Amino acid sequence: MEEKIKHLIEEVDAFRVESKEQLESFRLKFLSKKGILAEVFSEMKSIEPALRKDVGKWVNELKNKAEEKLRIGAEELESSSDTGEADIDFTLPGEPNELGARHPLSIVRRDIIDIFGRIGYTVAYGPEIEDDWHNFSALNFPDNHPARDMQDTFFIEKNPDIALRTHTSSVQVRVMETTKPPIRILAPGLVYRNEAISARAHCFFHQIEGLYVDEGVSFADLKQTLYYFAQQMFDEKTQVRFRPSYFPFTEPSAEMDISCNICGGKGCNVCKYSGWVEILGCGMVHPNVLENCKIDSKKYSGFAFGMGIERIAMLRYQINDLRIFSENDVRFLKQFTSL
Ligand code: DAH
Repeated sequence: MEEKIKHLIEEVDAFRVESKEQLESFRLKFLSKKGILAEVFSEMKSIEPALRKDVGKWVNELKNKAEEKLRIGAEELESSSDTGEADIDFTLPGEPNELGARHPLSIVRRDIIDIFGRIGYTVAYGPEIEDDWHNFSALNFPDNHPARDMQDTFFIEKNPDIALRTHTSSVQVRVMETTKPPIRILAPGLVYRNEAISARAHCFFHQIEGLYVDEGVSFADLKQTLYYFAQQMFDEKTQVRFRPSYFPFTEPSAEMDISCNICGGKGCNVCKYSGWVEILGCGMVHPNVLENCKIDSKKYSGFAFGMGIERIAMLRYQINDLRIFSENDVRFLKQFTSL
């Protein structure tokens, strides 16, 4: 009898709860009215009184252990059903992971770099905090010349020699100072101007500067390169025209217009009914600029161009307020998910 009960205790100890059904059959086997314990208790009656006390101790231990197992097993099942697999409804729809989107300015910048990359341009960077030499003097802006007022500049208060760059043309100078021709680079980046914020102007915006310097570079090369760019950026029907302009660092200088991609040149409020929209400034690098960078202007010539990325993005996506690019409104930003 004692031996039998010890085996039963071992069986109870070894029991591990895995499911409701299994716990219920444990209960039926040991603790129900017709279970093992009931049977053992009734057998106790026929045991010799002298042995009864000892056997009774074992039987009580078996009973306590079985009841404890049942209680703990029920608790375990309860807590695992809160988070566990037992109650998961696999038919519920999943929670979607929302896709992030590239910023439209990043998309346009990437595309511009891509288009020029196909004809051999690489990317160069320069600092946003710039000195007078790289932002102005080396680019042929004479001291106290009104051309410096073309761009309202943020100067650092304590040192008038340091400013936030007003254009990425400063990177031209840095590249020409450190690289021998042939040079073919694009310089994307942020620029800053002390302007009132409106739908058409901001105190910071993005530009891309382009520079090509080699022997025998001509204005014809400039025109063909920028024509190729306009057709790749917009579409094959896009026409270009060049209007004479003035920049201190190029001679001759021009501004390039493209045929209005919204009305196809017929006239609308984007092109102010002219059929053309301006997209960039350009020209042949002024010999003074080459010489300032220790490049022999008798041997080498080059062209440069600069454009505002916001402007290109506004034309491409028909956006009429430049402020929206820096407001981080997700309703705007998530429209670019697939690009
Ligand atoms: N730096 C000029 C601007 O910020 C843009 C520009 C015009 C860049 C003509 C050039 C250029 O390289 O040749 O308005």
